[in-house]
Amino acid sequence: MEQFSHIYENEEITLANLNEEIKRRRTFAIISHPDAGKTTLTEKFLLYGGAINLAGSVKGKKTAKHAVSDWMEIEKERGISVTSSVLQFNYDNYCINILDTPGHEDFSEDTYRTLMAADSAVMVIDGSKGVEKQTIKLFKVCVMRHIPIFTFINKMDRDANDPFELCDEIESILGIKTCPINWPIGSGKEFKGVYDRNTKIVSTFTAAMNGQKEVAERDLHIDSDELIGEIGTHFKDKLIEDVELLDGASAEFNMDEVNAGTLTPVFFGSALTNFGVETFLKHFLKMTSSPLPRNSNEGIIDPFTEDFSAFVFKIQANMNKAHRDRIAFMRICSGKFESGMEVNHVQGGRKVKLSQPQQLMADERKIIEEAYAGDIIGVFDPGIFSIGDTLELSNKKFAFEGIPTFAPEHFARVRQIDTMKRKQFIKGINQIAQEGAIQIFQEYNTGMEEIIVGVVGVLQFDVLKYRLESEYNVEIRLETLPYEYIRWIGNPTEIDLDRIVGTSDMKKIKDLKDRPLLLFVNEWSIGMVLDRNKGLILNDFAK
Ligand code: G4P
Repeated sequence: MEQFSHIYENEEITLANLNEEIKRRRTFAIISHPDAGKTTLTEKFLLYGGAINLAGSVKGKKTAKHAVSDWMEIEKERGISVTSSVLQFNYDNYCINILDTPGHEDFSEDTYRTLMAADSAVMVIDGSKGVEKQTIKLFKVCVMRHIPIFTFINKMDRDANDPFELCDEIESILGIKTCPINWPIGSGKEFKGVYDRNTKIVSTFTAAMNGQKEVAERDLHIDSDELIGEIGTHFKDKLIEDVELLDGASAEFNMDEVNAGTLTPVFFGSALTNFGVETFLKHFLKMTSSPLPRNSNEGIIDPFTEDFSAFVFKIQANMNKAHRDRIAFMRICSGKFESGMEVNHVQGGRKVKLSQPQQLMADERKIIEEAYAGDIIGVFDPGIFSIGDTLELSNKKFAFEGIPTFAPEHFARVRQIDTMKRKQFIKGINQIAQEGAIQIFQEYNTGMEEIIVGVVGVLQFDVLKYRLESEYNVEIRLETLPYEYIRWIGNPTEIDLDRIVGTSDMKKIKDLKDRPLLLFVNEWSIGMVLDRNKGLILNDFAK
C-alpha cells in the first residue's frame, strides 16, 4: 500500500508540473509590414528575457550572419529571411514562444501557416505610416482564426500620425475596435512620453543623446505638480483634453471581446529606444491566455490533458543538402513531448518515432528532451509528413482541423528544359509542393503535361528554380502568367463546371486534389463571373 501511495504521489507531482508548465506558456506571432519594427521589438523582448546579451543579435537583415535561420543559401544571398522562425525565452516565470514571420515583402504561404500555430498576435504598426498592405493580409488570417490581437504603435520617437487617426484607421481598414491602454504625448522631436490610462501615470521620454539607445524615464501621476515641468503646459493641457475625448469616445476595455478578436488593446511606444516595450510585454502577458484548446474531428482537445498531441504547420527542406533531409515543425497542442516518443501519425496511419527534436532558443538551434503544449518543436522528417498532419498519443487517433490552403497571388507555367528529365522534374516539383512551398495546378481538361505553379510571394519562384536545380538537377523555365486572383469553387457539385460563363481573361484549372478553380486578372472579373453565374460560390481559400 505504501508503495502505491508513493507512486501516486509522484504522479501527482508530475501532473502538477505538467499543468504548471503549460499554464506559464504564451505562444504568439508578431505581424507587421516590413520595416515597422518587428525585429527591433522582438530583440527588446529577448533582452528582457535575458535570452540575449546584446541588442542586435537577432538576425539582422543587413548582417551577413543569420543567427537563427541560415538554412537556405538563397536567404544568405538575398540577405533576407525566407523562412519563419520560432524563438523561445523566459520572462517573469512565463515561457514565451514568439513565432516570427518573414519580414520581407516577398513572404510566402508559410507566413500564413505560422499564424495557425499561434494563440494570439502582436501587430506592430509604424506610427508614421499607419496600417500597411502586409499587415492587412496577415491580420485577415488572424481574424479568420478569431485569435486576440494586440497592437503596438511603434516609432513614436519619430514624427507620427495623430493617435486618434491611427486608431480610426485600424478600426476602419481592419474592422476591429480599438482600446488604447496608453496614450502618447506628442511624437518625434516633441515626444514627451506615454500616459497609462489605468494607473493615470505618465512615463516621460527623454530624447536619446549621442546615439544612446536606452532613454531614462520618469513616472509621474497626471495630477503631479512636477508634470508641467517635465512636459510643459501645452502638452499637459493637450493630454487632459485627449484623455477626456478618449474616455468618451473609445471602446471600453472588454476582455471577452479581446479574446474573440473583435477588440484590440493598443499601446504606443518606441522599440528602438526601448520605450514602452516592457510595459507592453507585461500587459500583454497578463491579458493573453495559456495555450488554447484546439478543434479536432473528435471534439475539442484540452491542452492540459496528459496525452501528447501536435500538428505540423511547416516543413523545412534542405536543412542538410547532402541528405536532402527535412524538418517538420509542429505546434504541440496538448500534454508533454519527450524525446524519442512513439506517436500515432494519424494521416499516415502508423506509429512514428519523433527523433532529433529541436527547438530554437533565441539565437541557436538545440536538441531538446522535453516540451509542452504551446511549444513549437522541429522533428526530423524522412519525407512522410504533410502540412496539417496530426501526431498524437491517445487511443482516439483524432485529427486536428486542417490548415487551409491560402490563395496564391502569383502564377507561372513551368517547363523543364531537358525533356529527358521529366521524371525528376515531376518528382521534385511534387515534393516541393507537398512541403507546402508552392501549389501546383493543372489545366482543367488535360493531364500533367502543363504545370501551373502558384505562390504567395514571388520569391518562392526563385526558391523552386533553385531547389529543382540543386536538389533534383533539373533546369526549368518559368513563364509568368498575368493572373493575380484565385478562387476555389465552393459548390462544385451544384454547378455544371463546363457551363460556367467566364470572362475572356479567366482561366479554369484544377488543383492536385482535382478541385476546380478559376484564375482572374482582376477583382472586376470575379464580380462579373459571379453576376453571370447565379448560385456560383467562389472562395479565396480551400479547406
Ligand atoms: P521589421 O523587422 O519590421 O522589418 O523592422 P526592423 O525592426 O528591422 O526596423 C526597421 C528600421 O526601423 C530599423 O532601422 C530600425 O532601427 C528602425 N526602428 C525600429 N523601431 C524603431 C523606433 O521605435 N524608432 C525609430 N526611430 N526607428 C525604429 P535601420 O536598421 O536603420 O534600417 P533603415 O532605417 O535604414 O530602414
